[in-house]
Amino acid sequence: MAHSATKRFGILTAGGDCPGLNAAIRGVCRAAYDRYGMEIVGIAKGFRGLIEEDTKVLQPEDFSGILTRGGTILGSSREKPFSRVDKDEVALEKISAIKDTYSKLKLDCIVVLGGNGTNTTGYKLAWEGLNVIGLPKTIDNDIVGTDKTFGFDSALSIGTEAIDRLHSTAQSHSRVIVIELMGHKAGWLSLYAGVAGGGDVILLPEIPYDVRAIGNHLEQRAKTGKTFSIVVVAEGALSVKEAAMEKKDRKKYRAENGPSVAYRVAKEIGEETGMETRATVLGYVQRGGVPSASDRVLATSLGTAAVELLAKGSYGRMVALNGTEIDSVDLSIPEGKVKSVPLDHYMLDTARGVGTCLGIY
Ligand code: F6P
Repeated sequence: MAHSATKRFGILTAGGDCPGLNAAIRGVCRAAYDRYGMEIVGIAKGFRGLIEEDTKVLQPEDFSGILTRGGTILGSSREKPFSRVDKDEVALEKISAIKDTYSKLKLDCIVVLGGNGTNTTGYKLAWEGLNVIGLPKTIDNDIVGTDKTFGFDSALSIGTEAIDRLHSTAQSHSRVIVIELMGHKAGWLSLYAGVAGGGDVILLPEIPYDVRAIGNHLEQRAKTGKTFSIVVVAEGALSVKEAAMEKKDRKKYRAENGPSVAYRVAKEIGEETGMETRATVLGYVQRGGVPSASDRVLATSLGTAAVELLAKGSYGRMVALNGTEIDSVDLSIPEGKVKSVPLDHYMLDTARGVGTCLGIY
């Protein structure tokens, strides 16, 4: 066995699940076990498992045969132990419970697989004296410090297929169909799936939309004989009108105009143009099922790279894709941030180049 600074570590998956988590778990565990003989403690349901000491030593059979499986064999939760740390004694108790579990289990490090929230919690735990290594996962592709997250490619395929399928029904009925994809703060998934699926309008959280610009675009399309249109909208998209509202007025407006953004946009387009509109929300289908080949490769590469950090004792880092290289960054880089679509990103030009309306004139 090769020498390793880390003898025993914990592994957890936190936040919304995504395809590729099991491939990453397998990548970490196989390299750690086979190459370095490390002991691995699986922590159930994200940080909740550390608080409640819900753990299990993993054996090779636990991480065998999981490469292609969706979800996470460890389970996940949205537990954010630091979320109320300034106001709430319960938060302090949670952090102390995490530290107790860490020392009781004699862990040298915890490997956290997650999105922005998870890597931020990892960073904060590192400040509390724990050794932490992060892996970037999310279908949203919105983590600062890595060029790509695993989960994104699989969700992109699912989103694209959904848009493809909407074309025939929209055409048959001469309708405008609005499809909502995930992405609360960043519009990567909608932008990429929208371009891949040939969306006529793409609405992102980064670009507040003007319904008159959308209406104008759809009317122009109709004049050229296009009897239907597909509008791709990220769940966090908002109108110029909403952006200008006070928070409470926005909340009220949203409550009165449908359960989510797709319904609001469909209603607004209907009122603006008189066209027949429908809304559809893809929802959790985007996060389920088998990972794409590309996500399996990325997750496996990031997982095995994380083990090299463990072996060297290079803690406080998140493994990352940097161009074509697997690299790592300090956990302070993703901490507390969201990687939005920059307004000068080439994909926005690509979308405009093929005549897609981005919700503004
Ligand atoms: O994992 C991120 C994400 O997919 C976001 O796009 C979405 O807002 C969120 O998860 C919803 O997840 P949940 O309902 O599981 O909290």
